[in-house]
Amino acid sequence: MSSHIRTALSRTLMSMAAVAAMTLASTASVTAKEYRVGTIVPAGHLWNKAATSMGEKLQERSNGEVTVSLFPAGQLGDESQMVQQLQTGALDMAFLTIADVSNRVPEFGALYAPFLVDNVSQANEILSGPTAQGLLELLPKKMGVVGVDYGIATMREMMSTQPVETIDDLKGKKMRITPFKPFRDFYTILEIAPTPMPLPDVYDALANGQVDAIDIDPELILNFKLYDRAPHLLLTNHAMFPMVGLVSGRVWAGMSEEERDMVATAMRESLAELRQQYAEAEPEMIEEIRATGIEVKPVGPEFFPGVVEKWEAMWSEQKPTIDALREEASQLQ
Ligand code: BEZ
Repeated sequence: MSSHIRTALSRTLMSMAAVAAMTLASTASVTAKEYRVGTIVPAGHLWNKAATSMGEKLQERSNGEVTVSLFPAGQLGDESQMVQQLQTGALDMAFLTIADVSNRVPEFGALYAPFLVDNVSQANEILSGPTAQGLLELLPKKMGVVGVDYGIATMREMMSTQPVETIDDLKGKKMRITPFKPFRDFYTILEIAPTPMPLPDVYDALANGQVDAIDIDPELILNFKLYDRAPHLLLTNHAMFPMVGLVSGRVWAGMSEEERDMVATAMRESLAELRQQYAEAEPEMIEEIRATGIEVKPVGPEFFPGVVEKWEAMWSEQKPTIDALREEASQLQ
């Protein structure tokens, strides 16, 4: 072997050793791990795509050491069961609505103050603001989970099997709601019977007359073709619908600083992408619903006289949080 080939070979070996040492150093405190992530939303929903994107980031940044297995559509149980699993460490992470969270930590109910924001873009601003971010800090102590950041879904609307001229047309009628107190209170004030129901039951409940109307969002109207069963959409935008990215407190406690940073960064980035996607997709979804030919009627807070004041009176214990959110919302365009 000539001397320059020997020199080149030894340089190659040295640089391979250096790369190996650097790789070892960068993954030294990242243990090989498969994280389990749960959601209640159906396959194809944007929340699941965000969870998948988070998994891809983690896999890439850990050189394949860290992977994510997604359990969508409530495969691991409803949100309350998933929260229990997060608390014991049986589940590593979840992308959850704030329904169960606000049942356990009522401060989060303030995020559902009626007519707080007009659209997803404004909702995203509020969720990135100091009040909403401050709420996340309550979670480790009050719920045993780490709240990394928020996602979002499209705004809440009402769909009815019958035309609605005034809100009185819905009085005494059964309205499907996501099972949690802020929405229950909203409809109770309006003298509409709130009927808690998980998503997979909604289509059949409309078909068999179990409910007359539904509290729902545009993405799910399209996903489940709900316009076939309830051809009257009141475009109310009466509440935003945040999601929260959670990590089990126990699992978090067992992670190195490096793992925490990697997980939190990947989750935060995927949730930020998701919020942006919804801001862009919301108007397109509404157009797609209009194109089905059903009645689409935009209505504002004046359609629901007195509801904001009465809801805030019912939620007076959370007044400081509600006032702070409304103050931040008043600064938005
Ligand atoms: C709902 O219950 O309406 C719902 C649940 C998860 C995501 C979006 C909406």
